[in-house]
Amino acid sequence: MNDSNLDKRHIIRIRDMSEEFIQTIIDETYQIKNHPNDFNDVLKGKILALAFWEPSTRTRLSFESAMLRLGGQTMGFSSQSGTSIEKGESLSDTITMLASYAHCIVLRHPKRGSGVLAAKVADKYGVPVISGGSGSQEHPTQALLDIFTIHEYHKRLSGLKLGIMGDLRYSRTISSLLYGLSKFGKNEIYSISHPSLGLQEELLFDLSETQLEITTSASLTDVIADLDVLYVTRLQKERFPDPMLYNKVKGAYQVQLEMIRLAKDDLIIMHPLPRVDEIPYGVDRLPQAKYFEQAKNGVYTRMALLKRIITDSKQKARG
Ligand code: CP
Repeated sequence: MNDSNLDKRHIIRIRDMSEEFIQTIIDETYQIKNHPNDFNDVLKGKILALAFWEPSTRTRLSFESAMLRLGGQTMGFSSQSGTSIEKGESLSDTITMLASYAHCIVLRHPKRGSGVLAAKVADKYGVPVISGGSGSQEHPTQALLDIFTIHEYHKRLSGLKLGIMGDLRYSRTISSLLYGLSKFGKNEIYSISHPSLGLQEELLFDLSETQLEITTSASLTDVIADLDVLYVTRLQKERFPDPMLYNKVKGAYQVQLEMIRLAKDDLIIMHPLPRVDEIPYGVDRLPQAKYFEQAKNGVYTRMALLKRIITDSKQKARG
């Protein structure tokens, strides 16, 4: 967040995390996944507020499941409906109130910069904020669970070939995944999308100073045989400035069963979900399909993160 005075426990952008911090979360996630019952009371007496301005199934409910499995409790809202935001209450005042009620806040909000603003407000009360997704900017906890899943199947986070396909421009999960992976040395990225949905210029500029090698590929067929990971995203219809563009490109970037027959046995197919039509249901039965296991890993990764953030003393979490 480029603000060294703020509590380091806020989790707003993965680009602000050190490689060591991400590795610590990966290690702790393995511990929790292998021995879940050892962590039943770690957050007993603590409250997590879930403040979601946008729809969510996985992020909101996996955070809730994570907190409950750690012995804590949750409160919050899943849309503006029924809250005083409908009466015009600001993000800043809403966060001020939640900081009085809870020990940690998870925020999902459609606007860029919303996470930073919330962190600055909650910081005054010593309450950490975790972004559950801010506009098309970042989704840091999705990247943590994605990176854990890649590590789980490939046992390494460098020397990999990743295909990223779909809506690369408006997908916050793609931005966060690439910022996160860029901390782990050399990986080759093949971007496959409609030209109007390619990676954001700001992201490409930032990544040009890292060891990630990014190549544009015209089609999945051209690269599928070489890939270790295929990461697919849906078109973010709600973020398209022009509905005509959505109609023009929808359905153009789909995984086909016959393409996967060309892939390596240890390819893993990932998707942050929800999917629309970019991965047909027939792909689910292939051994390479890992997106539901990936989503399940979200519970363990978020348990590791909550444990670290809520039990650590102020300032220390990101190392
Ligand atoms: N991957 C993800 O963020 O899913 P939700 O929108 O359902 O939380």
